[in-house]
Amino acid sequence: MKAIEWIDGRVVLIDQTRLPGETVMLALDDYLEVVQAIKEMRIRGAPALGIAGAYAMALAARQIEAPDMGTFLARLQEAAQQIAGARPTAVNLSWAVQRTLRVAKAASSVQDVAKTLLAEAVRIHREDEEANRRMGQLGAELVPSGSALLTHCNTGALATGGYGTALGVIMAAWEQGKVTKVFATETRPFLQGSRLTAWELAQEGIAVTVIVDAAAGYLMSKGEVSCIFVGADRIAGNGDVANKIGTYTLAVLAKVHGIPFYVAAPTSTIDLSLSGGQAILVEERPAREVTHVGGTLLTPEGIEVRNPAFDITPCNFVTAIITEKGVVREPYNQELRRTVGHGNG
Ligand code: MRU
Repeated sequence: MKAIEWIDGRVVLIDQTRLPGETVMLALDDYLEVVQAIKEMRIRGAPALGIAGAYAMALAARQIEAPDMGTFLARLQEAAQQIAGARPTAVNLSWAVQRTLRVAKAASSVQDVAKTLLAEAVRIHREDEEANRRMGQLGAELVPSGSALLTHCNTGALATGGYGTALGVIMAAWEQGKVTKVFATETRPFLQGSRLTAWELAQEGIAVTVIVDAAAGYLMSKGEVSCIFVGADRIAGNGDVANKIGTYTLAVLAKVHGIPFYVAAPTSTIDLSLSGGQAILVEERPAREVTHVGGTLLTPEGIEVRNPAFDITPCNFVTAIITEKGVVREPYNQELRRTVGHGNG
């Protein structure tokens, strides 16, 4: 299953707001439609956002009409800003947009840009799937036999270029026969866990049990969770991790219960320009995601709501960060730089 693909000049994606009930495909040929799909979370998950951003740039390059290269690049830059600004926390989106923009600037002509930009977007897509498979192998080595794993949000094929980050590790460990079961947190309010992770794992024949977010601590206290694997939307240079709201709570509980807490993310999620997690912009999403399920109102009408979509887990709660270039441990400041190398992005 592919969350996103480029088919005959169009970006084709599965509308993730309709899963698991219906499989609805969207075929988009205007970059602004991709921006809208990102804002509405029809496509989501940090690496998938990067890929969508890169394909949106390829669409923009085809749409823009300009008399000369200078005007063309100025218009492409404007499109880049709109695309990168669609969601602020996952760095993969701006990383991919900047990467494609650099390729465009190096092109020799307007005709050349459209071709090279698409090739770069396809490369970003392919590299992400390869990175995920590598992380799967590296991460599975950390899983002891007979483990019950817990994961949060959705980090599978739907959230990436294929296979998944944390879910890729879980699938690789399952294939190696090390996993007894997987607890998927529901992940309020958007329910990425109960709708998407449960769906993906069930399709793979992996024993998945959905729990409400608030049940995680109880299961940990009963010794029912061996390790936790989550993804990331942005990792600061010191190893602080921005990920789906509720991740921080899980990390604190894991520490209290002596449970390893692993983050799996490609190096495209690491933002060495930020020295710590306090500098990461956390997206606040519409109140309606909290007050409603479908069309049903769950709260008193007009009640005040806060809906931060992410939180920041300080690096000292993270046992290790699994990347495609290796498993990184403390001191993260030094080890992330060494692993990523210079010039990430
Ligand atoms: O708001 P979302 O669904 O885009 O958030 C997704 C997450 O927080 C994931 O854990 C993260 O992007 C890693 S996905 C491989």
